[in-house]
Amino acid sequence: MYQARTPPLTSRLPNVGTTIFTVMSALAAECGAVNLGQGFPDFGCDPALVEHVHAAMQEGLNQYPPMAGVPALRQAVAAKIAALHGRRYDADREITITAGATQAILTAVLCCVHPGDEVVVLEPCYDSYAPNIELAGGTVVRVPLTPGTFRPDFERIAAALGPRTRAIIVNTPHNPAAVVWTRAEMQRLAEILAPTDVLLIADEVYEHMVFDGGEHVSAAAIPELAARAFVVSSFGKTFHVTGWKVGSVAAPAALTAEFRKVHQFNVFTVNTPMQHGLARYLADPAPYLDLAAFYQRKRDLFRAGLAASRLRLLPCEGSYFQSVDYSAVSDLPEAEFCQWLTREIGVAAIPMSAFYEGGFEQHIARLCFAKRDETLQQALDRLARL
Ligand SMILES: Cc1ncc(COP(=O)(O)O)c(C=O)c1O
Repeated sequence: MYQARTPPLTSRLPNVGTTIFTVMSALAAECGAVNLGQGFPDFGCDPALVEHVHAAMQEGLNQYPPMAGVPALRQAVAAKIAALHGRRYDADREITITAGATQAILTAVLCCVHPGDEVVVLEPCYDSYAPNIELAGGTVVRVPLTPGTFRPDFERIAAALGPRTRAIIVNTPHNPAAVVWTRAEMQRLAEILAPTDVLLIADEVYEHMVFDGGEHVSAAAIPELAARAFVVSSFGKTFHVTGWKVGSVAAPAALTAEFRKVHQFNVFTVNTPMQHGLARYLADPAPYLDLAAFYQRKRDLFRAGLAASRLRLLPCEGSYFQSVDYSAVSDLPEAEFCQWLTREIGVAAIPMSAFYEGGFEQHIARLCFAKRDETLQQALDRLARL
């Protein structure tokens, strides 16, 4: 008789553990803290969107959709990009619906990165990029955004590009630093990439959250970038439905063909009624066009309240994150400060160091203001003690 035995594994991702987001959310729940750590809304979506999905389900739209996504949704995405950024993607050959931006980015990386290839990421950055590159057998090349301003340092970016560089991942509007790349910066990126075969993965999930009359300059809007870019969007972020995990990728036909080879054996399809519901909802541009004003009001409310504390506010040009420099309040390293803030003050935040390999310390914590006004007010009442 053999004994039941689980064979040992060699991890493909030996450095990955429980993420800081899970740790801080668990601590927030344990301490009854207001959770401004994890980046998702604590309010509902537009009931009209739910009704569209409900109607699609009742109409029997519940079986596998086409692999690339429901045609009506791909057409709606193509029309939206054309209207906002002036590039007309072919809905059949250049738009793919994904299981959120997370799967879109992983699939983009898997379809183009070979073992030994290098991929440039700009730190601080979203936590899935490096593991995605490692899963593809690639090497992560980390270039810091300029400390203090978090703007791109083009000399360092150019210096990081070499014969092995396959791609660069750029995120604007930026999580966690809330910086929005200007047209001049996007054009500078285009100039640097022009003489190379480096592909661009443009993570634009916060595309509709740009404040103070600023503009989101999509990679789709700069022809030299669009020709080499996977442009990634997330309906979860735009329509307050992060749990639905539906996103899209726009890329030239040759890139999309490779993307779909991986996509079809990765998720194959994304759930049908959500896609039909989203396609119908997109007929009205108001919900995404009004999103910037919606979040700007929350940002302003939150910033006005924080101004009364000793936390120093960093600029917030876009996204739904507000970072603060807590040097005047504490000398603790960022992770310890965030734990202290959760336990003692009752507000959960995320340390900026969590977005850097090796944990660069700047005395900065990230707070999410995608919350009901009452939630923000409750957090502000507590933070006023600082
Ligand atoms: C920069 C960035 N990219 C991608 C994602 C993932 O988006 P999705 O929920 O659509 O997978 C997030 C979510 O927090 C994000 O902040």
